[in-house]
Amino acid sequence: MDWVDRFRGRYRGELARRGIRIPPALPGEATAEAAGALLALRRPDPEDARPLDSFEAFVIENTAVSTAPLVPEIKLHLATELTPLWEATEATLAEKGLPPPFWAFSWPGGQALARFMLDQPEIVRGKRVLDFAAGCGIASIAARMAGAGAVVATEIDPFAAVALALNGWLNQADVEIWLQDVIGQANDPASADGFAVILAGDMCYERPLAERMTAWLRTLAAGGALVLMGDPGRSYLPKERLESLTTFSVPTTLELESSTRQETRIWRLLP
Ligand SMILES: C[S@@+](CC[C@H](N)C(=O)[O-])C[C@H]1O[C@@H](n2cnc3c(N)ncnc32)[C@H](O)[C@@H]1O
Repeated sequence: MDWVDRFRGRYRGELARRGIRIPPALPGEATAEAAGALLALRRPDPEDARPLDSFEAFVIENTAVSTAPLVPEIKLHLATELTPLWEATEATLAEKGLPPPFWAFSWPGGQALARFMLDQPEIVRGKRVLDFAAGCGIASIAARMAGAGAVVATEIDPFAAVALALNGWLNQADVEIWLQDVIGQANDPASADGFAVILAGDMCYERPLAERMTAWLRTLAAGGALVLMGDPGRSYLPKERLESLTTFSVPTTLELESSTRQETRIWRLLP
């Protein structure tokens, strides 16, 4: 059974209930309709009437399918020098009511996590993996490619959720998307719906978020989950109870970072 059939099989009932149709034959690359169907399954607020098309159109029109330097095997809808998003500043986007497009870039932390899992698939093989704040989804997709039993990607930005869906389709990686803030939720890694591995790529860029997330992730580590953080030296990385697993040198651009390479470490967060 191919990937598309598995997707249809898994979601058929729910899709039908919501009147969502999956195209009978999907072309090799992502289709907006399919991505919309996937996202609609996870939209938490049924009153949210914004048409999915507007998110999809925005992602597709403002990105190009390309790859991140450390992970050439994963295709992603990303901002490049050729796309308008590259030039758009946070201020001009805010004027239009749009959040900063973190999902349109593949951050060094997420790239390093993806490389780590693709090179050492035994870390996630057969396991249920949570990619917290997945952005473009590079780590989620890598986890799936490395043989994770199931991958859930969480996001709070609906544009990111759409980009995640589109990127999942692009790589035929079956990633479930939750458009919700899961910080504080309990986890039993031994249960059927618990997560054995938790990923957090490049999430220590803002103090309140980093502190809230780290406190929660430590409780998950105490409960037995393997918590992996990919970090290029962001200011709010916790200073203690971290075990360094490996380092990657990630090529970056001066438009986004302060140097053309970022030493990016994979950390295991300890309780
Ligand atoms: C710097 S990006 C990192 C994305 C990805 N992990 C990577 O490494 O490329 C930060 C992302 O975190 C998301 N985010 C922030 N707070 C979040 C929360 N509480 N739950 C889920 N996502 C969140 C943002 O929407 C944004 O896409």
